[in-house]
Amino acid sequence: MDVETHKRAAAARALEFVRPGMRLGLGTGSTAAFFVELLAERARTGLDIVAVPTSEATRTQAERLGIALTTLDQTPELDLTVDGADEIAPDLTLIKGGGGALLREKIVASASANMIVIADESKWVSLLGRFPLPIEIAPFGATVTSRAVEEAVVELGCPGPVRVRKTRDGHAFVTDGGHWLLDAQLQRIAAPHALATRLCTIPGVVEHGLFIGLARIAILAGADGVRLVERT
Ligand code: A5P
Repeated sequence: MDVETHKRAAAARALEFVRPGMRLGLGTGSTAAFFVELLAERARTGLDIVAVPTSEATRTQAERLGIALTTLDQTPELDLTVDGADEIAPDLTLIKGGGGALLREKIVASASANMIVIADESKWVSLLGRFPLPIEIAPFGATVTSRAVEEAVVELGCPGPVRVRKTRDGHAFVTDGGHWLLDAQLQRIAAPHALATRLCTIPGVVEHGLFIGLARIAILAGADGVRLVERT
């Protein structure tokens, strides 16, 4: 099985947690897209759910597939969010935002009674940090914010550097919320809580891609099959 098959297998397992009448959060990225596709198949055959997408890309996909959508303002309490991740640590702390949707993803996950993270096994790590940590920032004063983030990560023992994410044509990547993203090369995040707290003190930082205490279950698919890890 290749990695796409693994992603699909994890998504299919997550579908077993969906019950009629649920209010769902729909994640962003290639793994979450498999979940949206499979959910739409179930909805077409009568499963009654309503969903909040975490990005314009997911909204477009869900609308095209005929999934009933709502907004977080209309439906502020969700039952379950299913989303992918860039890295998953054994305590189910996550790095997210590789797809640029971390702000809406975190708002939606925080409004959900439960979050399931779905991934292929390559996302499972003993320590977070090899994947650059995405940090969403205001475009105004981006250089100042970026320097402050660099100082903060060095204080916490992470080397940096910190770079503004660019598109292929060299422009700053703009999120659905109109912000920019920094990608912080940290290598080893030994103290995710401390880093998260410190990043939140920097003016200009809108949100960061450390998801702490949000995912309750990880569904991981690999060559040996699908396994579930529950947060203890
Ligand atoms: C989107 O902003 C991210 O948080 C994604 O959930 C993450 O990048 C995983 O994407 P893939 O499922 O495509 O690896």
